[in-house]
Amino acid sequence: MKFVITAGPTREPIDPVRFLSNRSSGQMGYAIAEAARDAGHEVVLISGPVSLVAPKNVRVELVTTSDEMFSAVERAVRDCDVFIMCAAVADYKPEATAHEKIKKQNATQSLALVPTRDILTTIAKAPRKFFVVGFAAETENVLENARRKLTSKNCDLMVANDVSGAIGMESAENEVVVLHTNGEKNRITRAPKKIIARELMKIILSACEKRLTKKT
Ligand code: C5P
Repeated sequence: MKFVITAGPTREPIDPVRFLSNRSSGQMGYAIAEAARDAGHEVVLISGPVSLVAPKNVRVELVTTSDEMFSAVERAVRDCDVFIMCAAVADYKPEATAHEKIKKQNATQSLALVPTRDILTTIAKAPRKFFVVGFAAETENVLENARRKLTSKNCDLMVANDVSGAIGMESAENEVVVLHTNGEKNRITRAPKKIIARELMKIILSACEKRLTKKT
């Protein structure tokens, strides 16, 4: 099967030297890409700016902004079987990017922000045959918020990720709950992200298989 996996943060430029971003390290997405490759699948990894080594035998496409990630995803998913949106895409971007470095002033500054396009929702709601997995990084009411996103973003699986503590973002460890559309859930207890990725891959492949057998 062909997997398209996104990883890492996006950067939304304010001026030539400044940007808005978040603390995503990309480790979870890279580990999922390696797990899919190790399970014998073709993998395209679309990655925001991270300081990780590109996995071997995986096609890596490097992007910076949410708009670039959107274009790369839109192209890559056309002939894919599984799309996993693990990237921490910025929810807002500056309304305009200054061409020159904004000068320091003594007065309070404000920055007009506009919402970025929701890549996952746009791709998952368009007519599609491939299987879609979303991620929900939450600091409160984790399962409730993730279940809402499973439906509102039209995903087949949603991986709920509590990022309120020391694990999750910027950490080599994670703990997740995978939510299914039929109400089932699987908890993967705290472990290194490489182990979490392997467990996730088993759950994703088995859910994919169930969906295929249901349709035939
Ligand atoms: O930011 P939010 O909690 O809505 O993110 C949930 C899911 O939506 C994640 O899988 C994330 O990659 C995706 N997302 C996206 N485009 C955005 C914001 C989030 O694809 N602009």
